[in-house]
Amino acid sequence: MRVLDLGCGRAISSVFLAKEFGVQVWAYDLWINATDNWNRIKQQGLDNKIYPIHGDARNMPFADGFFDAIISVDSYIYFGTDDLYLNYLQKFLTPGGTLGIVLPGLMKDFEDGVPEHLKDFWGQDCWSWHTVDWWKKLWERTGLVDIKVADTMPEGCMIYIKWKEAQDKVGKNPWPQDTAILKKDAGEYVGFIRLVANKK
Ligand SMILES: C[S@@+](CC[C@H](N)C(=O)[O-])C[C@H]1O[C@@H](n2cnc3c(N)ncnc32)[C@H](O)[C@@H]1O
Repeated sequence: MRVLDLGCGRAISSVFLAKEFGVQVWAYDLWINATDNWNRIKQQGLDNKIYPIHGDARNMPFADGFFDAIISVDSYIYFGTDDLYLNYLQKFLTPGGTLGIVLPGLMKDFEDGVPEHLKDFWGQDCWSWHTVDWWKKLWERTGLVDIKVADTMPEGCMIYIKWKEAQDKVGKNPWPQDTAILKKDAGEYVGFIRLVANKK
C-alpha cells in the first residue's frame, strides 16, 4: 500500500506504519525539515519504505488517485477546517481508499465562551478545535466519502495529561500550566476526535 502520513511531524507514525504493516509511506510535513526526517528514517533502516517530503498540505505535488490511504495524526486542525479541503484531499486517494484522522477537539461545545478553567489553555490556535459532530457534518454533507468511524477517543484527556506529564518530567513542556488545567478539565471539554472514511 501507498500511505500518505499528512503532517507527520518527526515521522514517528510513518516509522510505525512501515515497521508494523510493511507499507510504503510518504512522510509529508511543513514545519519539520525533510532531511531531519530522512536521517531518522535511515537510522531505523526504513529508507526503502519511507519518503520524507517537505511541503504544505494545501499544495501537494502528488498524482490524483496515488494513495491507498491517508492518515493525519494531530495535524488536520491546522488545515482541515477549510470547507473545501476534503474535496482537495480526496483527489489523492484511489476510489475506496481510506482517510483516517485523529485530532484534539471538544467533547462538547462551549455554552457561553471559553470556560473559566480553560482560559489559560485556550490559545488562538485552539479555535480550530471542534466536536465530533462538527467534523462529521463537515465531511458528510460533501457526499464524497462514506464515514466508517466518527467518535471520541476513550480516555483521550487522560492520554493528553500523560503526555504533558512526560514533557514536565524532562522539562520540555512549552506550556507548563496546561497539565493542571487538563487535570481540572478531566475530559469535560478536551479530548481527541477520530474519523475514518472511505472515498466513494
Ligand atoms: C502537533 S504536530 C503533530 C505531528 C505528528 N503527526 C505527531 O503526531 O507527532 C502538527 C504538525 O502539523 C504540521 N502542519 C501544520 N500545518 C501544516 C500544513 N499546512 N501542511 C503540512 N503540515 C502541516 C506541522 O508541520 C506539525 O509537524
